[in-house]
Amino acid sequence: MIRTHTCGELRAGDVGSEVVVCGWVDSVRDHGGVLFVDVRDHTGVTQTVAHPDEQPEGFAAAEAVRGEWVVAVRGRVRMRPEGTQNPDLPTGAVEVPIDAVEVLSVAEPLPIPLDERTETDEILRLRHRPLDLRKERLQRNLRTRARVSAAVRAALEAEGFVEVETPTLIRSTPEGARDYLVPSRQTPGSVYALPQSPQLFKQLLMVGGIDRYYQIARCWRDEDLRADRQPEFTQLDLEASFAEPEDVYAWIEAAMRAAFEAAGRSGELPETIPRLTWHDAMDLYGSDKPDLRAGPPIVDLAGVFAGTAFKAFAATLDAGGTVRGWRFRGGGDLTRNRLDGLIERAQHLGAKGLVWMVVEADASLRAPVAKFLSDAELAGIGAALDAEPGDLLLLAADTAQTASAVLGQLRLDLDRPAGHAPVEAGGAGVSPLWVVDFPLFEDDGAGGLTPLHHPFTSPHRDDVHLLDTDPAAVRSHAYDFVINGVEMGSGSVRIHDAAVQARMFEILGMEEAEVRSRFGFLLDAFRHGVPPHAGFAVGWDRLLMILCDERSIREVIAFPKTQTGADPLTGAPAAVGDDVLADVGLQMTPEARAVAAAEAGTEAGDSGA
Ligand code: AMO
Ligand code: AMP
Repeated sequence: MIRTHTCGELRAGDVGSEVVVCGWVDSVRDHGGVLFVDVRDHTGVTQTVAHPDEQPEGFAAAEAVRGEWVVAVRGRVRMRPEGTQNPDLPTGAVEVPIDAVEVLSVAEPLPIPLDERTETDEILRLRHRPLDLRKERLQRNLRTRARVSAAVRAALEAEGFVEVETPTLIRSTPEGARDYLVPSRQTPGSVYALPQSPQLFKQLLMVGGIDRYYQIARCWRDEDLRADRQPEFTQLDLEASFAEPEDVYAWIEAAMRAAFEAAGRSGELPETIPRLTWHDAMDLYGSDKPDLRAGPPIVDLAGVFAGTAFKAFAATLDAGGTVRGWRFRGGGDLTRNRLDGLIERAQHLGAKGLVWMVVEADASLRAPVAKFLSDAELAGIGAALDAEPGDLLLLAADTAQTASAVLGQLRLDLDRPAGHAPVEAGGAGVSPLWVVDFPLFEDDGAGGLTPLHHPFTSPHRDDVHLLDTDPAAVRSHAYDFVINGVEMGSGSVRIHDAAVQARMFEILGMEEAEVRSRFGFLLDAFRHGVPPHAGFAVGWDRLLMILCDERSIREVIAFPKTQTGADPLTGAPAAVGDDVLADVGLQMTPEARAVAAAEAGTEAGDSGA
């Protein structure tokens, strides 16, 4: 039997046609001796039916089939009887009387339920991922992903971007994480690294005159994993010559609009995407990836408390700190317990303390510390925070950085909408922004500096003169795109001057010999004519997570790994034999051997379970 129609295709107009539908048995129902077999594929469900008298052969065959068997069913399409049509189902007007069933494959009882209502342990889902993928949700996510990729490719190609593949067995590219290493058989003792991103190669493509490059590229980073971090993940990576940040913003915004449209969410991105400097983002939201949906920005109240008699605040202000506040609309009804919890949380986050105030119906402020504050101060707080009756106000006196960081986190704890569903679907929608002018360096925690983005990022053209005198104060031409508090992508203008690049490595404390050995190929290439260039990379899994309104990027990846970097389906990573290791010049340490033996033991236990 050859498939003539998919399971979601048949309509009233097909009545009278002889068809063959193929798919999985979604359900078998016995209604007073008549068998209904729903056959499912990724397009939907077709109801097939066998009456013992009218389709005796079909009935006998249908009696034998079970859930998730793969079958082909032949019959002549007819209308469902009046009153039994299902308007909620696209195929709900028709049914296929079963003339014949061919069982293409039988199925043992499934180890995981396929209905969307049952919560299943994620490890179990990943272990049985091929079955998990049959679920409508994952089908939808993966198909959305494919559509979005195709649309964004088309959008970038319309702008003259050329897709170029770059190698994945490389010398390490520093993006701040550990590398995954691949030992070499030809040169035992030497290793390739899997790229953390195509960063250096895309810059070399600019030297090569490609002008505008893009790639949907796989990246590998050995770092601590979370809901939005996988050891291998995908970037929409691009780079362009003779490009300014404004060009990059425009291309990425166009790509984002194409992505949202392909995901059926066009019109959700605002006409103008707001921009904040990194500095303002840190002050106003205490984060370099603010979720603009979570209530108002943090307000500096130093002016309100100038000369205050309240000791806790006065001491902080005298010491060069500040007082900042945030308003939680309607939060005035939090219980005393919750409020005590907020104070503990603030202290846990590093705050010296936290003051809460409830705005009463007459707009007065109820707070344990109210008696220490003057009427002018109380009025000043209310005005600065735009307080209304029923609001909760939170104040922290600290260094500017700590005050914003703590209030910023409480803001998310208390007021961050869950999920990314469109507003029409009852969700909080999406709120994107650009965060620009990141600092060039951050403290490396050991008295030195480390690049905030990566060592190829250009210092801000207005700050180059500070490189020698005050490098920590130098801003960069690095920018992030953020949606709903998720860092969606990063990019920068690159250094294209070999001397500036060399100076950069010097500030980072890298010896000339190390630089030569690791990046000599880049510096050499730059000596032979390099165009100024800038680029960006979008975290593709993260974008899809938001487009599909998922909480974890694992839901938009066909075969993701667990939080420990394992693949429960294939058992990767797995030990290999000593002979295989010897081929690449490696030997197991006794410690590694013990771990491998323990793992092997667990696996044996697992398969028996
Ligand atoms: P960056 O390191 O910021 O920049 O990475 C770009 C984007 O990739 C996503 N991302 C991840 N997604 C899932 N799992 C991970 N482990 C993971 N790590 C990063 C994030 C991030 O914003 N070469 C530069 C880009 C450039 O300068 O052009 C780069 O890779 O969404
Ligand atoms: P104290 O005078 O230190 O007992 O503080 C009185 C009140 O002010 C307490 O509720 C403290 O939690 C609060 N408080 C103290 N220090 C700070 C601070 N740095 N920021 C915000 N509130 C504070």
